[in-house]
Amino acid sequence: ESTTDVDLTGIEPGMAIKAIFRKQPLFVRNLTAKEISEAQAVPLGELRDPESLEQRTKEGKANWLITMGVCTHLGCVPLGAGEGENKGPFGGYFCPCHGSAYDTAARIRKGPAPKNLEVPAYEFTSDTAIRVG
Ligand code: FES
Repeated sequence: ESTTDVDLTGIEPGMAIKAIFRKQPLFVRNLTAKEISEAQAVPLGELRDPESLEQRTKEGKANWLITMGVCTHLGCVPLGAGEGENKGPFGGYFCPCHGSAYDTAARIRKGPAPKNLEVPAYEFTSDTAIRVG
């Protein structure tokens, strides 16, 4: 099992990049304050796969949203990080295959996907770097 190191330097608020982790796309996103507020404002009871932004990020680092870039419907790569700028109607990611829309915490909000984008195991190795896996 391999790990992937990602340098966060240069990923400004509002930017998302696509990396590769174990041959699959990995999204690394630096949320803006507005995107964080939008995610925190959603009642968990409204979510198909209820998880808070805090549950999906590391303590004190809620701006760093690290997820797999694999739609939980049938595995397409959603748009919004290195695959086009269409973030979809909930401002996170949008899967063009069958229209699944994810919010700014990469939680499923609309369309056929059953689950949120998966958060892989990872840790911060410094303030500006993570190790995934
Ligand atoms: Fe993403 Fe179907 S694979 S909506």
